[in-house]
Amino acid sequence: MVEDSRIPGFYKLTREERAKKIQEVTGIPEDELKPLFDPGSMDMEVLDHMIENVIGSMTMPLGIATNFRINEKDYLIPMALEEPSVVAAASNAARMTRTHGGFTAEDTGPVMIGQIQAVEVPEPFAAKDQILEAKADLIALANEQDPILVRFGGGARDLRVKVIDTKVGPMVITELIVDTRDAMGANAVNTMAEALAPRIETISGGKVLLRILSNLADLRVVSSSAVFDKELLGGEEVVDGIISAWAFAEADPYRCSTHNKGIMNGIDAVVIATGNDFRAIEAGAHSYAAVDGYSSLTKYEKSKDGHLIGSIEIPMAVGLVGGATKVHPVARACVKILGVETATELGRIIASVGLAQNLAALRALASEGIQKGHMSLHARNVAATAGARGELVDKVAEQLIKEKMVKVERAKEILAELKKK
Ligand code: MEV
Repeated sequence: MVEDSRIPGFYKLTREERAKKIQEVTGIPEDELKPLFDPGSMDMEVLDHMIENVIGSMTMPLGIATNFRINEKDYLIPMALEEPSVVAAASNAARMTRTHGGFTAEDTGPVMIGQIQAVEVPEPFAAKDQILEAKADLIALANEQDPILVRFGGGARDLRVKVIDTKVGPMVITELIVDTRDAMGANAVNTMAEALAPRIETISGGKVLLRILSNLADLRVVSSSAVFDKELLGGEEVVDGIISAWAFAEADPYRCSTHNKGIMNGIDAVVIATGNDFRAIEAGAHSYAAVDGYSSLTKYEKSKDGHLIGSIEIPMAVGLVGGATKVHPVARACVKILGVETATELGRIIASVGLAQNLAALRALASEGIQKGHMSLHARNVAATAGARGELVDKVAEQLIKEKMVKVERAKEILAELKKK
């Protein structure tokens, strides 16, 4: 946990200075952050046991988004991704919410769904009733599979059954509803679903095939909203432009795909930084967006005093225990920087980042376009690569843009001239 997630001029520091600053404001011991600051120091044995046929590792830049305040708590947010502008855009959007209290986020709890597919069931509707009659026993059997989860207050909670029509005939689908607490839950749910299969076969008289978690985690949804300041956004016209950009996405799937992709830029970056399964999050997000015809995961409206109110609603199957989150030293360091206590708290942060990311993209698109921002960030990076530090970063970057010559060699010359002065 950090006192204040605003670190003015963070981007102007060198990488080493930024690392030091993060250590300073979070108070995390240096050895815990070392694998993050210095990926070369990573113990390769850890990676060797994560997947098969390991020969090496692939590193990605990891940046820190500043300015986030969510449910009255400040957070510094680690983001791992290869795309420029995303971290800066998220930080900038989060800044615009602060005078209005930051983000307010809620969730429906860490509840996942496991599916058990029964085929060749002689009397599907009677089987449905019989499975429902055995509900209490089936839930008890599911919970026997994971006493630790039950001890931590989680476990199978409910069971529902549906008969679906398919191209190969009717199927009886049993869905087990499981509170997975701080786990993402795939292992727990799959183990339970597999354990129930023989009983479902006996009850239904059919044959069980698939026993697997659903990534359409619509019982594990996070919502977050924030008021973005109209002056900081650039005035009423920009507010109207953003609302219009959102309406475009709601009305047109070609635009909506890119709109939601922009949301996932922020979401995936935090999901990856914390060692979570970004494919599961992507699948959940897009299937949730498609339930009633593909639409936007965010919504926008104008407050009575002209500010922009944004909100997001998205499934968020992330965990803090198990998987890479616990094993990968960089993921562990990122969880420490976030200072989160529960998986649901992590989910609320991630959804808020998605909203911030979307707002930033729509604001740029509805005003100057995204290329100008890209260019000025690129120019700053080039200036820093050329050796500029502190105030000189912006000065060199400005000159590079003015000359339309964003090249390291030219940056070095400009820097030398400025230093002479
Ligand atoms: C680029 O990675 C993301 C954007 O295209 C999102 C959007 O168009 O809303 C800028």
